[in-house]
Amino acid sequence: MEYAELQVPESLNELIKQLHGIFSGDKINVEEVQTLMESYKSNPADWFRFAKFDQYRYTRNLVDEGNGKFNLMILCWGEGHGSSIHDHVDSHCFLKILQGQLKETLFNFPDVNQKNQELSKKLESIYDENQCTYINDKIGLHRVENESHTEPAISLHLYSPPFDSCHCFDERTGYKTKVKLTFWSRFGERTPWETLESKENN
Ligand SMILES: [Fe+2]
Repeated sequence: MEYAELQVPESLNELIKQLHGIFSGDKINVEEVQTLMESYKSNPADWFRFAKFDQYRYTRNLVDEGNGKFNLMILCWGEGHGSSIHDHVDSHCFLKILQGQLKETLFNFPDVNQKNQELSKKLESIYDENQCTYINDKIGLHRVENESHTEPAISLHLYSPPFDSCHCFDERTGYKTKVKLTFWSRFGERTPWETLESKENN
């Protein structure tokens, strides 16, 4: 599929505006979105107000609801923080590094006919500032980690269509559990305690 010449977004707001345009249609060109997200040069002044850390685990902070077509969020990874191994429930997932570095480990989906089977590792990649990667369930499962013990990491994630639960997988057995996803903050405001439940996983 062809797409119009890329206009490099000068700010996060401009990126969001362009994403709204792309996702207003019915079809998504993965490469177009990935190229666009990668072309935005991360500027902390743009996203500082969404970047909220927790001492114990990584946080998910909602930035934009994409007219119902996508969720855009900023994830803040403290030193040593990582996700579980999870799927993306048939959605597109784009991950761009805004600051620091993240390691992604890809796994094959467990074979439905084989119970109690260790997940097989496919690939390990390190992503640096401004890089953007993509995953969906056809590609596999992944775990994302900030391996640094001295530097935090911040990433921008786009999920389309949006989802509020996914599955986590046990590496040794392939056993999966459904997990509800929550936001640590929404539009720069801390989510009230009573609506916070369970874990955050993607
Ligand atoms: Fe993910």
